[in-house]
Amino acid sequence: MRLRRARCLTCYWHDGLFVVHPYPQGTPSTVHPAAAEVLTAFDEWLDPETADRSLPHLTAETVREAVRSLTEAGTLLAEGSCEAVRDEETARHWRTWAPEASFFHYATQDIDDRQPAGAGAAGFRDPAPDPVLFTGYPDAPRVLLPRPIAGLDAPYGQVLHARRTHRDFSDAPVSLGTLGVLLAAVFGPVDFIDSGRAALYRRTSPQGGARQELDTYLGILNVTGLDPGWYHYNGLEHSLELLAVGLTRDEAAVLCADQEWIGAAAFLVVLAARLERMSVKYATPRCYRVCLLNAGHLGQTFALTATALGLGPAETGAFRDTPVARRCTLDNTGHTPLHVLAAGHPGPGGGNAPPTATADAFGATRLSGSTT
Ligand SMILES: Cc1cc2nc3c(=O)[nH]c(=O)nc-3n(C[C@H](O)[C@H](O)[C@H](O)COP(=O)(O)O)c2cc1C
Repeated sequence: MRLRRARCLTCYWHDGLFVVHPYPQGTPSTVHPAAAEVLTAFDEWLDPETADRSLPHLTAETVREAVRSLTEAGTLLAEGSCEAVRDEETARHWRTWAPEASFFHYATQDIDDRQPAGAGAAGFRDPAPDPVLFTGYPDAPRVLLPRPIAGLDAPYGQVLHARRTHRDFSDAPVSLGTLGVLLAAVFGPVDFIDSGRAALYRRTSPQGGARQELDTYLGILNVTGLDPGWYHYNGLEHSLELLAVGLTRDEAAVLCADQEWIGAAAFLVVLAARLERMSVKYATPRCYRVCLLNAGHLGQTFALTATALGLGPAETGAFRDTPVARRCTLDNTGHTPLHVLAAGHPGPGGGNAPPTATADAFGATRLSGSTT
């Protein structure tokens, strides 16, 4: 029977042990690091005897034993087996996203009973004390924001349908009052709850575990009363803490992967995860997914709230993480950017919206049917 190394396989060291981790349905197994050489020999379909001949410095017994344990671990697949077909299919579907995205997806799939992550589960508790509830920069110069209450009474249905991603902004500055309402409504605390161990806060967006691991940083370009530069929104104080002076349209565009339009926004918002706030309670790596989902929730609430305030919202997944982190003074190790939002007063281009689909566009579209 011929065997081949799984296409969907990631190998790494964990706690000093060499781990082979096939996916989608495989589980991690520890093997001797020399097994990597045996796996290398099975790049294409090969019978174990031929593989043995290509590894002359290993005894036949060693190769036989390695092949047995690697097959058991799901890293060597038998030609024609269901596992081999699924492996090929998975590799085909994930294409250029593999191995990074596919490994993360499948390695964190299904709830691991040893590390409960569900809302009802007790969860994991790191013995270390919980990180502070609100990130703060006590030594930074700060601007306490006004606390107007007006501006959010537009009808919900109207806001929902008016929300569009804007890529065209006017030169009109956003007022500090409007920015204050937006920040408080989207990122500020709404109420405080007892987690059974300490206080947590809730926002207007659902956030998995209410851990509030996402901190809010701002790149200010065109806001009345604020110098262009980088700030942190302190939700406890409802203040902006100045981290670094200076931000230009060009820099904003470069940070957002050369998207020129974003430089015309009045401000950028960087959502940065303070990972330990989540991981101190939930040890399972699956919860990184929850951090990403949480960022999406905040993004949508930001877009709707900005719309209700008459601003044009935008968001981007395309940004240069390392310099963005540097500008927000983040270490980018345990405190790392996940999402970038932006807003400003809409420009005359009506949001730079894409054209409405025409008969030609529909003619080039397969509207339904099989995906293959
Ligand atoms: C997570 C996320 C990432 C996005 N990234 C970009 C981006 O990098 N550049 C961009 O121009 N638009 C980006 N957008 C905006 C989408 O292109 C936009 O939402 C989509 O075209 C639908 O238009 P609408 O938002 O007006 O409904 C992003 C939207 C989301 C939710």
